[in-house]
Formats: sequence, C-alpha cells, structure tokens
Amino acid sequence: MNSELGLGCWAFGDEYWSSSDSTYSHRETVRVIRAALRAGIAHFDTAQGYGNGVSEQVTGQQLRQIRRSVSIASKTYLRPASTVEQGIEKSLRRLCTDYIDIFYLHWPKPSQDLRPQIEALERARQKGYIRAIGLSNFSAPQIQPLLSAGQIDYCQFGYSLLWRTAELSLVPFCRKHNIRMVSYSSLAQGLLAHPPGWAESLPPEDPRHRLLFLQPEVSPRLQPILQQLWDYSRKIGITGAQLALAWNLSRPWNRYTLFGARRPSQVEECSQAGSIHLPPELIEKIDALTTPLLHLWPESENIFGHRP
Ligand SMILES: NC(=O)c1ccc[n+]([C@@H]2O[C@H](COP(=O)([O-])OP(=O)(O)OC[C@H]3O[C@@H](n4cnc5c(N)ncnc54)[C@H](OP(=O)(O)O)[C@@H]3O)[C@@H](O)[C@H]2O)c1
Repeated sequence: MNSELGLGCWAFGDEYWSSSDSTYSHRETVRVIRAALRAGIAHFDTAQGYGNGVSEQVTGQQLRQIRRSVSIASKTYLRPASTVEQGIEKSLRRLCTDYIDIFYLHWPKPSQDLRPQIEALERARQKGYIRAIGLSNFSAPQIQPLLSAGQIDYCQFGYSLLWRTAELSLVPFCRKHNIRMVSYSSLAQGLLAHPPGWAESLPPEDPRHRLLFLQPEVSPRLQPILQQLWDYSRKIGITGAQLALAWNLSRPWNRYTLFGARRPSQVEECSQAGSIHLPPELIEKIDALTTPLLHLWPESENIFGHRP
C-alpha cells in the first residue's frame, strides 16, 4: 500500500502546544481538521493523553459524520492489562465511534513485560473495538518478545530528515515482521518548515527549546544541513515543509507520514506534499546530506530525550 499523509492531533487542547501560543483556540482546532478533510487527508492520529482527552473529543466530533471514510488512530499510556479495555471504551466514547482503526501502546517502560497488554488488545480486537494493534516508541528488542502475544500491525516512531535513526535496525525489523510503519514529527516540530535560524525566534517558554535538535552541542552541526535543504526546496519551487514531507513519503516502507499543524494554511501547504514526487537524483542528494546524522544520537534515543 502507498504511503499517505496523516494529520497529527496532538496540538488539539494540549498544553505542550498551547503554552507558547495563547491565540491557539478550540475554534482554530476545528478549522484545522476541516482544512485537512478538504485537502483529502483521511488518517488522523490522536492519543488518550493529548490534551487529557480533549484531542480525542474534538477529533471524534469533527469526524463522526464521515467516520467510515477516514481512519483514526489513538494511543494509551501503559496501564494494567485489566484496565486496557476500559480505557478503549472511554476512547470510543470520546471519539464518537464504535471502532478505532489503530490502537497503540504508547511509550514502553524498559524491562516491563507487556505481553498481558498485547493480549488485552487482542481481546479488544476480537470484540471489534479496535482493528489494528500498534506500538509507539518501541525499539526492535522491545517488540521482539511481544510478537508471540499477538499480531503487531503498526509501529510509530520519530522520523524525519533530521532523525533517521530508525533506519539502523527498527525499519529492517518491521519490514521483516510485516509491521507497517508510521513516522511522527516529520517536520522536526517546525524546524524543517521554517528558514534556518527560525528556532532562535521561539519564545523562551516554548517547550521545543528542549528538543535534542536544539541543544547547543548539536544545533550548529545541523545549521548547514538545514540551509542546504532550504536551498533545495527553493530551487524546485516548493516549501521546506513540502520537501520534508515529500521525502518522508518517498520512503518505500512508510505507511503514514504524520504532520502536526495549528493553522489551516499550514494544513493546506503540507497536504500538497502528497502530490509532489521528488526527482530520484534529488532524493539521493538529500539522503547523502542527512546520512551523517544517522549516528548523531543513540538508537534508543527519541527527539524529546524522554525517559519513560
Ligand atoms: N507517538 C509519539 O510519541 C508521538 C510524538 C510526537 C508526535 N506524534 C504524532 O505526530 C504528529 C506530528 O508530530 P509533531 O506535531 O510532533 O511535529 P511536526 O509535524 O514535525 O511539526 C508540527 C509543527 O510544525 C509547524 N508547521 C506545520 N506545518 C507548517 C507549515 N506549513 N509551515 C510552517 N510551520 C509548519 C507547526 O508549528 P507551529 O504550530 O509552531 O506553527 C506545527 O505545529 C503529532 O500531532 C502526533 O499525532 C506522536
């Protein structure tokens, strides 16, 4: 199946995104979802934790009339296996639906046995509550022992021009086990969508200052790469965001490329990436430019430096 863009719904009602922009409102959220539908986006990625349920709620309300023509993914943080189904029922109510297309376990805890949680998800699948099981932010060694507990259908991980570490072992592992892949933060949370140097203009309270890309020991190394990517996009008459997303979509193993947006105009711009085919020689140049970043961070790392 071809790769496809999906709208990330994390920003809807979530403090991470609202703390630095008080103009971002519920009304704007609704306009973003409507813009995505107008642009033909048919996959929506939310989580129980985004905005403490608000994201599921607003997404579900906007999609209820056309539920059968879109796919919805949600996620749960780790919880006791006996309460997984209860959590899914809550998500179903908030999402105004009777099934969820992909349901992810979100952020593993090292050394916790999660087979009971996978078995609980399989029971939810048998009841028709969920259609596919996903793992979010799991490494290959963390997925391996779970393969005998149920069918893992999707794996979601951070992946962008600046963060390709999944290519080292997670992507080959997923390919081997027929696990479909979903990439998040494909715009490096805005870094790839703006001219180089943009991050310096972020207000001090913006949580993106904590991203690993923006740490002083790494950031100067990224600047020439960001500049070159920006120049490539200008040269072929597309925007930085479109270049970043079109490149993600060109990965043959990628099922969904997620992007987040807080403005309808951003959705309009990003969604056009779905019809941009980067010339193979440009893809080669971009690959060569960003390959040195593969080993900049350990494979076990995530862009947030988050330790669950
Ligand atoms: N599984 C996980 O752990 C996990 C983690 C992160 C994300 N995700 C999922 O992936 C989705 C997307 O990731 P993300 O939100 O982290 O990051 P992203 O898609 O890399 O970046 C989103 C941000 O990029 C900026 N942007 C978008 N379009 C733009 C445009 N055309 N021009 C300029 N700037 C633009 C916006 O920033 P401004 O709002 O500042 O303009 C937007 O909020 C999330 O919503 C969520 O569904 C999952």
